[in-house]
Amino acid sequence: MDNLEHLVTEAIAEFAKATEPARLEEAKSRFLGKDGSLTALLKGLGKLPGEERKAAGSQINTAKGQIEAALAARRDELRQAQLDAQLAAEALDVTLPGRAQSRGALHPVTRTLERIEQLFRSIGFDVADGPEIETDWHNFTALNTPEKHPARSMHDTFYLQDETGKVQEDVLLRTHTSPVQIRYMQAHVDKHRHLPTMPEIRVIAPGRVYRVDSDATHSPMFHQVEGLWVGENVSFADLKGVVADFLRRFFESDDLKVRFRPSFFPFTEPSAEIDVAFMSGALEGRWLEIAGCGMVHPNVLRFGGIDPEKYTGFAFGMGPDRLTMLRYGINDLRLFFEGDLRFLAQFQ
Ligand code: FA5
Ligand code: MG
Repeated sequence: MDNLEHLVTEAIAEFAKATEPARLEEAKSRFLGKDGSLTALLKGLGKLPGEERKAAGSQINTAKGQIEAALAARRDELRQAQLDAQLAAEALDVTLPGRAQSRGALHPVTRTLERIEQLFRSIGFDVADGPEIETDWHNFTALNTPEKHPARSMHDTFYLQDETGKVQEDVLLRTHTSPVQIRYMQAHVDKHRHLPTMPEIRVIAPGRVYRVDSDATHSPMFHQVEGLWVGENVSFADLKGVVADFLRRFFESDDLKVRFRPSFFPFTEPSAEIDVAFMSGALEGRWLEIAGCGMVHPNVLRFGGIDPEKYTGFAFGMGPDRLTMLRYGINDLRLFFEGDLRFLAQFQ
């Protein structure tokens, strides 16, 4: 049966041509499928006389075995080729240099704030905060700065508009953290109302504040840390002691140059501003104001719900951005808020 041999050769050639499993299965069905050439031959056997049918049947079965063997071999080949391709595609080049992890770091001002909190907590201060959008009453009136008082113009204030664009005179971006003094005193008094004597208030309040201000030492958004200590017999000497001790610990220096300069704030009497000299960098020896402070004005204690005949207190408002400038010898505060990674990466 020449055509049987021919059929086997043809099947082997067709299988070899199939380069994908799906094509190979198509080729298979052309020979071994229900309507395949070999199946047709098998079906034709029935028409042959006995002896001939037997011989032909065995020949066809041999051919079928050969075709099936060729098919299985080709299937293996394709499976192997697919595996090889997959391995090649997923190959790892272990000689490539590794990808470095770029590490983030805390902003230098954030580090200063964390350090301030840590130092004040260590001497028993609580840490509080208040809203950045404040009422005129908390920001000015309760701090002994009545409407039309000239001291209000010391702060160039950002006011807020309502939906119609009209400026709201009683809502503003707080110009300092001092309103937290009022909020904290009121809450403290309320909380300890049931006690015969009020426990001391010792608190700092760090946060963002806003003023229409911009130059090398003034940013429109900046930070302050308010400090407040109210109790019986709290004096200006305590204020100087706490601030000087804090600054020595903050700058890790015992021969830090600090001065208290007489000043004015409506909410303290007497009042002072605190200056620190640069210890390094281009501005070495130059004084920079870092805080305002003073003894809490009796009217402010009253607005806080505290009897000024019985209690006294001191308060300060520090600029942590300025402390950061001094600590690292930076001469322009705006660098802290421009987000230039070349500048910020130096503090990692
Ligand atoms: C006040 O804001 C007072 N509330 C401080 C105070 C609190 C006095 C409690 C008495 C009792 P002054 O405007 O001076 O004061 O600001 C305080 C500090 O904030 C300054 O010494 C300075 O370190 C910092 N500061 C003020 N304006 C800016 C600004 N635009 N950019 C960066 N830092 C500023
Ligand atoms: Mg000042």
